Amino acid sequence: MKQAKYILDKDYKIGTVDPHLFGSFIEHLGRAVYTGIYEPGHPMADEQGFRKDVLELVKDLQVSIVRYPGGNFVSGYNWTDGIGPVKDRPRRLELAWRSIETNEIGIDEFADWAKKANTQVMAAVNLGTGTPAEAGYMVEYCNHPSGTYWSDLRRKNGHEQPHNIKVWCLGNEMDGPWQICHLSAEDYGKKALEAAKIMKWIDPNIELVACGSSTSFMPTFPEWDRIVLEHVYDHVDYISLHRYYENDNDIGDFLGSFADMDNFIHTIISTADYVKAKKRSKKNLMLSFDEWNVWYQKKVKLMPWEIAPPLLEDIYTLLDALVFGGLLCTLVKNADRVKMACLAQLVNVIAPIYTQKGGGVIKQAIYYPFQQVSTFGQGEVLRPLVSCPTYETKSYGEVPIMQSVATFNREDGSISVFILNCDQSDDVEVTMDFRSFGSVQPIEHIVLDGPDLFASNSFDEPEKVKPRNACLSAGQGGVFNITLPKLSWNMLRFSCEK
Ligand code: AHR
Repeated sequence: MKQAKYILDKDYKIGTVDPHLFGSFIEHLGRAVYTGIYEPGHPMADEQGFRKDVLELVKDLQVSIVRYPGGNFVSGYNWTDGIGPVKDRPRRLELAWRSIETNEIGIDEFADWAKKANTQVMAAVNLGTGTPAEAGYMVEYCNHPSGTYWSDLRRKNGHEQPHNIKVWCLGNEMDGPWQICHLSAEDYGKKALEAAKIMKWIDPNIELVACGSSTSFMPTFPEWDRIVLEHVYDHVDYISLHRYYENDNDIGDFLGSFADMDNFIHTIISTADYVKAKKRSKKNLMLSFDEWNVWYQKKVKLMPWEIAPPLLEDIYTLLDALVFGGLLCTLVKNADRVKMACLAQLVNVIAPIYTQKGGGVIKQAIYYPFQQVSTFGQGEVLRPLVSCPTYETKSYGEVPIMQSVATFNREDGSISVFILNCDQSDDVEVTMDFRSFGSVQPIEHIVLDGPDLFASNSFDEPEKVKPRNACLSAGQGGVFNITLPKLSWNMLRFSCEK
């Protein structure tokens, strides 16, 4: 058994958890929308065709904000195709994912769905084929109360009240040559600036996210981010980060992905702060990690043109869920600058929720860490003093065997600690010391582990991978000895005097 020490002090605060850290993403891609959130005629469909079984799981996940409608899709999307009477909406060839888009769902329906799911919309505008003026029309349509062409059109289309969408993305991954009408950093910076000005003139209360690098291994990273920010710094509120991880036949490396994500975040913080200094600005730019997950990025095969073909339907294993937990800890640990994050995506497409067309719905393995952290990772993020063994990875150098985050909810006196144990051979005994909290009582220790790292849930065995209760003994003088099984994800909860 390996040994580790974990000291928590209630006054060592990193930041406050912004609820928007637990966002997600629905793109018009594969079966995310059609036969995912929306399937008229399904036994569980409501009067608008939204699947109630899916809505229940989205609510259980406590997803705070959902990015929509893309993704790569948005760079060729004309948002006006998705408004007005459904029978009049055009069917289009959708070039990002080579599908047929029926436009049955558009921004009005999605805003309705978001209300039913107890979440908010984070809208993305098209800065590929789209123009800054069209982006402004969309803000006017969604957020202006009435008395103008676009706001009255929304009212005519059945939405008397504005959608009041607060957060808007200025395009998607515009640094990527795969993007429809991809731009250089200079050209994107100029276009995003003009769009930002128009959008904020229409609604000064909105927040804007500029496209940062689409991944940390882009050859243009981090120059892209610097150049873009030099154009838009004063006009935007966030810069975006996107990153997906996969197992490249090296479990140690894969488990250590959290170290790479942390490095990515810190490089973007440095880049943003450099631009801040150059501009003599007083504003700290915040980060929106609006696409993250495990994703096995096989080449998308060219298929015949179809409506909602099954694309990117990754099946997640226990190992994926462990890595996923480590990534989630990293996002929350950086809560002082990462104010928003979107798990990409939410339903069917690289997602925690998986549906059968005309059938049931299951929770994938990654569902559980997300649900636990979004539910219990509330309040202040604390900076623990951790001493634990390390191990050597091929890609990320030396990394600790544990990745963790601790939150303290002063309102209800609860402490939550989430820990990934990456060690492949040993359990770890952690001495957890809460000496500054006064009297601390254990609530629960929930573990996600198992004999088969490659086990996954399926419609035949929907609960093959799921968390279990472990024993959490009473501590002495605020000190607890806790065993973290090898290769496990752990949620530990305690209560203290308020
Ligand atoms: O989430 C899947 C795709 O990944 C998104 O459309 C794109 O933004 C990213 O490359």
